[in-house]
Amino acid sequence: MQSVLFGSLFFLVILNHCPFLNGAVSCPNNNLSIKDGSFTLSKSYNDGSVLRYVCPVGFYPHPVKKRQCKYGQWDPEPTSKRECRKVTCPNPRGMENGVVIPTRKIYYVNDTTKYRCNSDYTFRGSATRECQANGKWSGGTPICSRNTDHCPDPGTPPGASRKGNIFNIDDKVTYTCDKNLKLIGSKVRVCQDGGLWSGKEPECYADFTYDTPGEVAEAFGSSLKTTVTMYEESAGQAGKQIRLDKGGKLDIYVALDASDSIEEADFDKAKDIIKKLIKR
Ligand SMILES: *[C@@H]1O[C@H](CO)[C@@H](O)[C@H](O)[C@H]1NC(C)=O
Ligand SMILES: *[C@@H]1O[C@H](CO)[C@@H](O)[C@H](O)[C@H]1NC(C)=O
Repeated sequence: MQSVLFGSLFFLVILNHCPFLNGAVSCPNNNLSIKDGSFTLSKSYNDGSVLRYVCPVGFYPHPVKKRQCKYGQWDPEPTSKRECRKVTCPNPRGMENGVVIPTRKIYYVNDTTKYRCNSDYTFRGSATRECQANGKWSGGTPICSRNTDHCPDPGTPPGASRKGNIFNIDDKVTYTCDKNLKLIGSKVRVCQDGGLWSGKEPECYADFTYDTPGEVAEAFGSSLKTTVTMYEESAGQAGKQIRLDKGGKLDIYVALDASDSIEEADFDKAKDIIKKLIKR
């Protein structure tokens, strides 16, 4: 038994002295810069360091937003063209029974679109939308409908296409996002008894799309609005207070972003903070 233990210790010592197996090789510091942007390094050029590209608001890093130093090489390896590109918004061409003005192949940040329905159709949503710096259109999905079905036309968000055109009880609509876009929300929605669709309207996110603090607050607000009241402390600091009736019940859901822009260490840190918050 003792000799086996000794043997494995010896093996470990050897591993520690071999830089390649240990991975303690630093990465090259050239071919990393990005046009019109900059980058940060989590552990300089050392093994395991994460390089993140930073672009001005309204721009995103192309072709990748980060690299990691692994065994002396950046992963993914730098290619020749690295630049900050203008943010684009998903194409609203999926809107049915109406027109999008202007019609373009690509819509960039600050571009404005207007929406109109064909005659006999009723308009719902935002008639004018602007492509925002976070890769989303302002306002709500424009919808042209003429249905007398049980549920209202659920529309087709920009960047998506929809299967399903009958909206009676138990009818289903299925959404697919354009290539390179990720569907956030409900892929399938079912028309329910009460005339409402199940789930949540889907959105198509590019790799660089993000939610602004305002959008997050609003998502929280819609479920909290009735119970949260503002109060002001003497120092002038504003806060929010949750008032509940005696015996009132409030469900709070905490969601953590686990997308690949979040490092494992940061995710764990956030988890710990939330655990502490819940305990308090
Ligand atoms: C979008 O418009 C804002 C306000 O006019 C401007 O500051 C910003 O530079 C524009 N963004 C781009 C990418 O053109
Ligand atoms: C990286 O930089 C070196 C010079 O610093 C250059 O010779 C080489 O072509 C570059 N490689 C790429 C992929 O850009």
